[in-house]
Amino acid sequence: MSRLSSLDQAKQTFPDWVAGKQQRIEDLLDLCLPNANIAPTRLHSAMRYSALDGGKRVRALLCYAAAELCACEPKIADAAACAVELIHANSLVHDDMPCMDDDDLRRGKASCHKQYDDATALLVGDALQSLAFEVISQAQIYADSQLNASQQMSLVYLLASAAGSTGMAGGQGIDLASAGKSLSQTELETMHQMKTGALIQASILLGAISAPKSDLATIKQFAIIIGLAFQVVDDILDVEADSLTLGKTAGKDADNNKPTYVTILGLDAAKQHARALYEQAINALAPLGEQAQRLRELAGYITQRSF
Ligand code: IPE
Ligand code: IPE
Ligand code: MG
Ligand code: MG
Ligand code: MG
Repeated sequence: MSRLSSLDQAKQTFPDWVAGKQQRIEDLLDLCLPNANIAPTRLHSAMRYSALDGGKRVRALLCYAAAELCACEPKIADAAACAVELIHANSLVHDDMPCMDDDDLRRGKASCHKQYDDATALLVGDALQSLAFEVISQAQIYADSQLNASQQMSLVYLLASAAGSTGMAGGQGIDLASAGKSLSQTELETMHQMKTGALIQASILLGAISAPKSDLATIKQFAIIIGLAFQVVDDILDVEADSLTLGKTAGKDADNNKPTYVTILGLDAAKQHARALYEQAINALAPLGEQAQRLRELAGYITQRSF
């Protein structure tokens, strides 16, 4: 990124910066998703239905904020932001299936398996996951890159480990096995860190691929805290918000007997915990000074959001 464009971005208000990045990720996803006219048309249409035109794009925003902080090359930041949103969309399509949370509503429209069918939704999740790895491993984004081969491989590794059985998929496995059970707060934290925190951490660490070693521990500490905070707030919103605002069915955790921060701590203490995590996240960023302003603003956005 040129110095001028970094300065321009720093001058933007936070809402303008968010809107600009949301539009950018929408356009990039539109370009990288196969056209719905290309066979198999039903699968490609369902992939586009599930990944485009919806969502807050928080993972992409975190990736871009870390990329701006660490002067990551724009082509690589774009690919990383697309890849994390594709893995996230894959997780949502599978999460909504009848064999998982059985939710008919996602991002304000029918869930993928309701709009299409279960088998298509299964394939959509698989194909979105593969597309994420195509995007992050395509040779042209590394042409003339300053990243060495080991850093390039680290991008793929970070994404793979966040999505797999010790990250998101593993956390989803624990989530399913925990229905109807009461977990300790430590067990719940582990589950949340895996099912949601891992991909959020990866979103930040991908953007921070060029960070100096001295900043990396600080950025990672922030990423761990804000990843957990994201799911604590999701648990609270499931109880407090309505389906129209959420764009997904409110009260689903209670319907499915899921242990959450609200069932374990109670609503007030869960909210208090979310506030404490926000403070921890802000404190974690202190060593990075003013340059980490976008990450600070995103921490506020994540913990104070209403959907
Ligand atoms: C919902 O994530 C699923 C969780 C991991 C809690 P988001 O709240 O980021 O969903 P979108 O992308 O904005 O729809
Ligand atoms: C989802 O957690 C975590 C994922 C990896 C998708 P939830 O099941 O609470 O997400 P929502 O509330 O359906 O978006
Ligand atoms: Mg779930
Ligand atoms: Mg769910
Ligand atoms: Mg939820």
